[in-house]
Order: sequence, then structure tokens, then C-alpha cells
Amino acid sequence: MHQCRFWWVSSTSRLTGPGAWVHVIALTNSVTVLGCILLLLSQLQVLLFLRTTPLLRNPHRPSLYYVNLTGISVGKVLVPVAPELLAFDPNTGAGTIIDSGTVITRFVQPVYTAIRDEFRKQINAPISSLGAFDTCFKTTYEAEKPAVTLHFTGMDLTLPTENTLIHSSAGSLTCLAMAAAPNNVNTVLNVIANLQQQNLRVLFDVPNSRLGIARELCN
Ligand SMILES: *[C@@H]1O[C@H](CO)[C@@H](O)[C@H](O)[C@H]1NC(C)=O
Repeated sequence: MHQCRFWWVSSTSRLTGPGAWVHVIALTNSVTVLGCILLLLSQLQVLLFLRTTPLLRNPHRPSLYYVNLTGISVGKVLVPVAPELLAFDPNTGAGTIIDSGTVITRFVQPVYTAIRDEFRKQINAPISSLGAFDTCFKTTYEAEKPAVTLHFTGMDLTLPTENTLIHSSAGSLTCLAMAAAPNNVNTVLNVIANLQQQNLRVLFDVPNSRLGIARELCN
């Protein structure tokens, strides 16, 4: 069995922070020198394209990873939302978290409505509902889908198609894979969920209070 191993130990790197280190190990029985080089390049690419935004601490909910979502664009349009609907407030629990334990991204009601209305306007297709989703359309309209970009302090994340849409099990309908926040304790909370994090490398750099995201194709 062949293997390729890389260690990149770094003490002061801008990319990984003090004391951090990165290692990549691939174990397969068919790794060639070229395969190793390609793997190394893909990992370097992830590190080079990593963008970060500060992690915010909420002492009342210390297990949640809060970030500062400052706006949302649909296509080229910055969706109009009142900044206080996105603002971090440790007392009320308001703000935005990145959560891998939630499946579907939820925005507080007026923010979701604004995103959805702009999305519907740009896709220009007959809209129907399906389960939790209120913006579904025939799969044939999918190519007209506008990109959704989340703007965080210091980092913009344009969601790939597979992180924006969900297909019905029958396959003929596609839905915007987002919804309004539920009417409970989390009504004031925006949640960036795991469907929106597919094929992204998400780095929780807690010692340095930041969250990093890079595109990564893991198929
Ligand atoms: C979030 O970003 C906005 C806009 O840049 C800024 O006014 C606000 O202070 C930031 N909030 C936090 C908690 O960093």
C-alpha cells in the first residue's frame, strides 16, 4: 500500500493562526506521485481561499457559534432589511449562528420574506409550496435561479446551487431551501444550517475567535 502524507506546521501563519498546524494524509492503494501533488495543491487552494469572519460570544448561549451577518444579496440585488433584524444581541439571543446540527437555513420572518420575494421576482416562474418550503418551482426553471450571497464581516459567501435549492423526492419540483424562523425561543435567530454548508470547508478557529470558510469539492 502506498500513501502520501504532508504535514505543514506553522507557528505564525496568517492562514492558520499562531500554533495551528495542518496535516493532510491520504491512504489509498493507488496513490501516485501525481495524485499526491494534486492532493497537496487542492489542500493549499482551500487554505489560500479561506476567508474568515469573527466569531461572536454570547455568554447566555455559549454553545452557539454566532457570526455577524450584515446583509444578503439575491443575484446582484442587496435585499433591503433593517440592520437591527440582523444585529447580534447577547441579551435577546438575536443574531446569526452557523450550525451544523440544523438542516435548513432559517431567517427571522421579515428577512426571510425579503429574500424570498426578491428570489421569486428574479426566477420569474410559477411558485408553489411544498412542506416547509414556500418557494418551489418546476425543475426546468432551475437554470434561472439567482445566486444567494451571505455577507458577513470580512467575508462574502455565495452559495453554490446545491446549497441553495432542494429537490422534491419526486424530482419535478425544486425549492428554495430556506424558511422563516419558528415561533419560539429562536424567533430572533438566523441559522445558517448544514445544507448551506455542503462542499464547504468550515473552520471553527475558537482560540482565535474566527470562522473560516472555503469552497471544497468533496464528491
Ligand atoms: C456587525 O457589522 C455591522 C456592520 O458592519 C457593525 O455595525 C456591527 O457593529 C457589527 N456587529 C458586531 C457584533 O461585530
